[in-house]
Amino acid sequence: MSTPELVTVTIDERSVQVPRGTGLVETAAAAGIEIPVFCYEPRLGEAIGACRMCLVEVEGGPPKPQAGCTLTALDGMVVKTARTSEMARVGQNATLEFILVNHPLDCPVCDKGGECPLQDLTFRYGPGNTRMTFEKRTFEKPIPISPAISIDRERCILCYRCTRFSESVSEDNQLVAVNRGAQTMIATFEDEPYTGAFTGNVTELCPVGALLPTQPRFEIRPWEFQAVPSVCGLCPVGCNIDVDQREGKVKRILSRNHPEVDEGWLCDKGRFGFSHLYAEDRITEPLRRVRLRGLEEISWEDALDDAERLLREADRRIAVALSGSETTEEAYALAKLVRVGLGAHTAMLPEETGDGLDAFRLPLAAQGAARRCRDRRDRPRWRRSDLARDDGSGLPQAQERRARRPAPRQRARRPDLVGRRRRRRFPSGRARNRSRLCGQARLRRLLPAGDGERPRRRRSVGRRVGRGSPRARATRAVDRLGR
Ligand code: SF4
Ligand code: SF4
Ligand code: FES
Repeated sequence: MSTPELVTVTIDERSVQVPRGTGLVETAAAAGIEIPVFCYEPRLGEAIGACRMCLVEVEGGPPKPQAGCTLTALDGMVVKTARTSEMARVGQNATLEFILVNHPLDCPVCDKGGECPLQDLTFRYGPGNTRMTFEKRTFEKPIPISPAISIDRERCILCYRCTRFSESVSEDNQLVAVNRGAQTMIATFEDEPYTGAFTGNVTELCPVGALLPTQPRFEIRPWEFQAVPSVCGLCPVGCNIDVDQREGKVKRILSRNHPEVDEGWLCDKGRFGFSHLYAEDRITEPLRRVRLRGLEEISWEDALDDAERLLREADRRIAVALSGSETTEEAYALAKLVRVGLGAHTAMLPEETGDGLDAFRLPLAAQGAARRCRDRRDRPRWRRSDLARDDGSGLPQAQERRARRPAPRQRARRPDLVGRRRRRRFPSGRARNRSRLCGQARLRRLLPAGDGERPRRRRSVGRRVGRGSPRARATRAVDRLGR
């Protein structure tokens, strides 16, 4: 592997060596110096220089402050940030004053307050007061753009992080900037609801309290959260998360950057799908099925003993059905338990798993040996197993059975019998009569039997039913039965 070429940059009189092409914000961070940013976010692609918070002075460059996030480190570069450059300091101060011209004084009630970069940077780089004497621009607020996210346009600083995410990361182009100049605002395309699998990421990307999750809203302040690093268990990806809890209750879930696993993004299921933790019907104690009595509570020891007994009784005839929501560690532990502990080597994977697992799918088809399978669709039902066998043939079992069935005996076709046979095998009136019979039988069950009336033979009842509309037929049948 070739070593990247290093360049030497001087920032605020500190020299630092970084690989050629490193961004100036990262270069300054490597030197232990902060260049404040709002719109800069490397995961969203190239910097766009929208907010001008990162202004720096570059020696030998144009005689005006430059957006540091759009620059890359060059050998011999000399940069001054607001710490050492009056030009950069005045520029950043003016930027913050400009951003705050229309920004509401919402901090005491804003859910972002306490973890808001706009608060922090205003405190460190901004003006101590405002020259704005006109009425601030106002918008309706907050506007729900999806069931889980609301937008507060008064707080938006137009950094375009959200629209860039929608355009280049989730690629749904649902969040857009509408209108021009001072009237520019963030909206969903044609005011449609913001839908998608990754929408919640914009609430974390937004540097201010403009895009916030609907829950928790006005319930908690950020300094009350206790962040617990964890791994999302709702799908096998295992994104890294911070579980923010208060008084032992999960209040929100944020991403915890682990580029190799999740690139810092979370799907909406992982971010918003934790309400089940407090569902009233959630099973928190082990239950044992008891005939006639339904379910009864048992202790964990008894439950584990029962499970062990049943597993041992199965004598290796065990198939593990993986739902796809296990973490790798859970799946590994389960595999070790059944393989090493019980000598069973069969498992089933959900159909939605990626192609990468195809190699593991074929030997797992214990379903091939199963006589019946539970078909879990809209209407769960039992059906015969027709899934792939583990002989590697790839033939579904039902298909294989059909292939093994002997071909029907070919009979000589006798033109004089063709009509009769067809009538006998497919009696033209019988199918209709049978359905009428069912209707008749239903009616007979509904009506009280007359005194001494002998039940008619089903066939004869059916034969007497004439043609006509269903209503007419039903009326005639009621008359007959009432006679
Ligand atoms: S977004 Fe930040 S600065 Fe604006 S009101 Fe909320 S906490 Fe205050
Ligand atoms: S809503 Fe937030 S992320 Fe989007 S442009 Fe406004 S401040 Fe930036
Ligand atoms: S962070 Fe550089 S312009 Fe916004």
